[in-house]
This record gives sequence, structure tokens and C-alpha cells, in this order.
Amino acid sequence: MSRSILVTGGAGYVGSHTVVQLLLGRFKVVVIDIPNSPLEIVLKRVAKLAGEFGKNLAFYQMDLRDKPALEKLFACTSFDAVIHTAGLKAVRESVKNPLLYYNNNVIGTINLLEVMVSHGCKKLVFSSSATVYGWPKEVPCTEDFPLCAANPYARTKLFMEEVCRDIYSSDSEWKIIILRYFNPVGAHPSGSIGENPSGTPNNLVPFIQQVALGRRPELTVFGSDYSTKDRTGVRDYIHVVDLANGHLAALRKLFDSNIGCEVYNLGSGKGTSVLELVSAFEKACGKKIPLLMAGRRPGDAEIVYASTDKAERELNWKAEYGIEEMCRDQWNWASKNPFGYGSPDHSTSQKTSSS
Ligand code: WQD
Repeated sequence: MSRSILVTGGAGYVGSHTVVQLLLGRFKVVVIDIPNSPLEIVLKRVAKLAGEFGKNLAFYQMDLRDKPALEKLFACTSFDAVIHTAGLKAVRESVKNPLLYYNNNVIGTINLLEVMVSHGCKKLVFSSSATVYGWPKEVPCTEDFPLCAANPYARTKLFMEEVCRDIYSSDSEWKIIILRYFNPVGAHPSGSIGENPSGTPNNLVPFIQQVALGRRPELTVFGSDYSTKDRTGVRDYIHVVDLANGHLAALRKLFDSNIGCEVYNLGSGKGTSVLELVSAFEKACGKKIPLLMAGRRPGDAEIVYASTDKAERELNWKAEYGIEEMCRDQWNWASKNPFGYGSPDHSTSQKTSSS
């Protein structure tokens, strides 16, 4: 009997890639995501990528702050575990509008956890972020590093990590795995699902992508005086398919062990500078990316990358793709979908089973 998994935010960037891997892994999947997400388009493509297993996908438009709707869902479907990726994640937006972030990310998560308890579902994979490390004094980051959330977005992630730890301390029946994502980039190799930022992209790679598409004139490089090999910021970029597979490794751990509440870094374990990423993307797209060298972006750390020893050891998971594949797959998605899911859909539309 295949297990049933609820994926919140399953129409999102990481969520949608995770749902593809879950379906191919023979899980039954229910996705909930907010009404104004391109839910229908994304999940039709996800179901198609899952082939014969696409029939095991159902999805509903639902906001986690609508507790009665959440109650109704859990009353009619019993879930073996929940993968919680839903949440707002733009750092600068969170600084300008913290209440929006606390309302969405904190209240939404607490609603979810309360409904899970009332329906006896106590297995959770929670999407956290490397931003909880703030400005790490050394690298690579290990999971026991001091935590220092430097903005409201990061604080919502840190607060929810603490809620998870408190829940487990109060009731050891819970099994919780917290995944700290480093910098997700890339797209499914088919090019049919990928990152779909609305407005001006906050993150580096979606911005480079829009420059390569001719949607933006140049990339502003924030800071060229860091003490790094080429003086630009260094981060740990991880292919979104590697990240998706990290969620399946976490699920296996929840089902096959007596884990309590544990945290794992999901990164490539390598540091890549802004200029290194630009040149890798230029190779992938065959175009020059014009640069404007500017001052540092307030709040940016200099160098952040992960130690993934714990995930390798305990989840039997390791990232497989490198920067070249990330840029290759990101460009493949971008060139097929220059305006994300708002681009005309050239694939033949196929009826998929979904509710
Ligand atoms: C990377 C590097 C910038 C844009 C984000 C957020 C959060 C998290 C992923 C989930 C830095 C430089 C960027 C640009 C640039 N997601 N840059 N020009 O800052 O590591 O953090 O990581 O938790 O979304 O915390 O990612 O992509 O914004 O920046 O020079 O136009 O690229 O200075 O060095 P970051 P980023």
C-alpha cells in the first residue's frame, strides 16, 4: 500500500520538483497551495513528468491560514507524513513587510501543526533555510553552528525550527526532520518546471537568467571587495533536483528509523562566487552577461557554504549535480519559458487526473 504524503506549497519551486520525485517514488501525493499560484499549470506539468504515476496526484487551492479548510482536508484524507515547503521567502520583502511574513509563515505553520496533531499525523519534513546561520564566522557551516537570524524571513524559519524542537520535547511520538536549504538553483532537466519569480528577482540566478533572456540590461554585482578569490560573494548553490531528492531521503528516514527531531544541511558543500556563476551561466546560454559592479548589499554575508557530512551519513544523501548542470538546466527552463508559467504553453495539453 503506497504511503500518502501532503506537500504544502507543492506548486512552488522546490515543492513542485519534490512532488515529481515523490510520484516517481510511488508515493500518493496531495498538494495544497495558495489560490494565486499557477497551481493548475504547474501540477499538470508535474503529473505529466510523473508519467503513469501522475494519477496519484491530487491538489487543492488552500491557504494554511484557513484552518477549517485544513481540518476538512485532514478529515477526508489520512496522511502518513507532511512535507511543509509553503511560505514566503523574499528577504527584502520581509524587511519591508514583516507582519506579512509572520502571518504567513508562522501562523500558517502553527495551524498546520495543530491540525496534524488533532488527526494523529506526527511525521514532518520542514523546509528551513541556511539564512538561520546569519553571518557564519567560518565555513563550511555545520548543523550545530550558532544560529542568528538577520531578517524577518530568517526569523520565521528559526522560530518554526524552535517550535518543531519544542513539539518533539513535549511528545516523543513526533518524528521531525528540518532541512536547511542553501541556495536552490536549476530546474528539472525537461525544462517544463522551474523557478517562477514574480516581479524583480531577489536572487542571483533568476536575475542572471532574465539578463540572458534580454529582459534586463545587466546584472548588478553587489560587492567586489570581499575577502574571496575574486572579491565577490560566495554561496553554496544546489541543484533543485538534488534538493528534491533530499526530501525523499528525509522521508525514508522518518519511516525507517526512530529519529526524533533532527536538522540537516542540504547544499552542494561547495562555495561558488558570483563571478564564477556568471561565467558558468554564460557558457550554458552562449551569451555575455553585462555587469555593473556596485557596493555590497546590506545584510549580505561574505561566504556561506554547507558541510553536508551529516546528511550523507544519516540520510545517505549527497548532491550529485554541479554548477554546469545547474546552469544548463536553468537555461533550458528559461529558454522554453521566458516568462515562467506565464509563457505560452507550447506542449500539447494533456488531460491529467487531478481534483
Ligand atoms: C547570492 C549572491 C549576492 C543578486 C538567499 C535568501 C533566500 C534563500 C536563498 C531560501 C550574494 C549576489 C545577488 C544580484 C548579486 N532562500 N547577488 N546581484 O543572499 O545567499 O540568500 O538565499 O531560504 O532567498 O536568503 O542569495 O541569490 O540573493 O545572493 O551580486 O542581483 O549573489 O550579493 O553574494 P542569498 P542571493
